[in-house]
Amino acid sequence: MKILFIISGSIAIKKCEEIFQFLSSNNISIDCIVTKNAKKMINLKKLKKTISGKIYSDVDEKNNKMLHIALTRKNNLVIVCPATSNIIAKYSNGIADDLASTTLVASNRNIFFIPAMNSEMWNNKMNQKNVSNLKNLGIQFIGPEYGKLSCGEVGLGRLMNTKTITNLIIQNVNKSQIFKNKKCLITAGPTIEPIDPIRNITNNSTGKQGYEIARQMILAGASVTLISGPTNIQAPLESRLIKVKTAKEMYNAVKKNIKVDIAIFAAAVSDLTPLNKSKNKIKKDDLQIIKLKKNKDILKEVSHLKKNRPRVIVGFAAETRDHISNARKKLFEKKCDAIIVNKINKYNDVFNSDFNKVTFITKKKKIDFKKMSKIKVAKHIVELIEKM
Ligand SMILES: Cc1cc2nc3c(=O)[nH]c(=O)nc-3n(C[C@H](O)[C@H](O)[C@H](O)COP(=O)(O)O)c2cc1C
Repeated sequence: MKILFIISGSIAIKKCEEIFQFLSSNNISIDCIVTKNAKKMINLKKLKKTISGKIYSDVDEKNNKMLHIALTRKNNLVIVCPATSNIIAKYSNGIADDLASTTLVASNRNIFFIPAMNSEMWNNKMNQKNVSNLKNLGIQFIGPEYGKLSCGEVGLGRLMNTKTITNLIIQNVNKSQIFKNKKCLITAGPTIEPIDPIRNITNNSTGKQGYEIARQMILAGASVTLISGPTNIQAPLESRLIKVKTAKEMYNAVKKNIKVDIAIFAAAVSDLTPLNKSKNKIKKDDLQIIKLKKNKDILKEVSHLKKNRPRVIVGFAAETRDHISNARKKLFEKKCDAIIVNKINKYNDVFNSDFNKVTFITKKKKIDFKKMSKIKVAKHIVELIEKM
């Protein structure tokens, strides 16, 4: 397991040595990036002795222009410790003006911030806004804790104690291996059913929730095949992306790739498709009635498989009313293992938002989540699947 530590210019920097010694003795390999300000506060020679990897700073970019990409790809986890108010603000605003901040922006790994600063700095409204912005994006924070600060004042801002930090890091190192050697199939996005060469039947799905689940499953160690209807969002680099357009294409792609441990059907597959696709544009007057036929029910077919049924099958439902009873009915009829239901209303306009409010339903459980970012929803779903 490899961790990239980004060390910024906080007085709490002296505690890094203890943290690194503990992690290194647990066979965790550590690379470090030190900011220009951190470099002035730390004895690099001493620090080097506590880690098996290397210490990088801005000067190293001169010889390796892609260092910011390489460092985040080769490590499994990125931890900013100690995290200054400055680096929190930079990342929250997408600023990339040195090796540390550019690496953060380029990272596709789980990122943790372990802040340390004076309590006025921590409680500063802009800092709090930045922290809550990052938390909504699924970035985790460890601490700070209340206590005596290096400046002599007492308040909230102390770097969390070493034992808690190292315990949480080890826990997350293990978490990133939960689905190691497990194969996962995820469908996402809408389908498009052509009426003629110009017109289609489709729906409002953007694919965001499914893509986030794919990303979180990858971070948990799974090998992910993502079957996606047309979207304009970027698929996770490590996923095997299969692009489809129609419900029929999605069904065929699922059938071909069904030998997996976990299947998550987050796509909004069109229930119906035109009976015949017209070769030519249908004239307006002939378009009042379009004959439709049912598409195959992917979730139901896969859940009823006698051979190659995935160990865990999760379906999605979007309902405007009676969402719980409808979801229970779906769970029962389709014979899947869990349904994640969105209640669509003016308070939860799922399709146009980065936020979602879902209920997770199995035969025995019903868990209502409050409204949160789709990234956080995806993290919860991954944790629930782990328990299944
Ligand atoms: C001695 C000293 C101690 C500092 N300690 C902290 C600190 O604990 N937390 C913090 O947010 N900033 C602290 N600062 C301010 C930061 O170093 C400053 O905001 C700097 O621009 C951070 O740059 P960096 O985030 O690129 O490392 C300290 C500055 C000095 C000179």
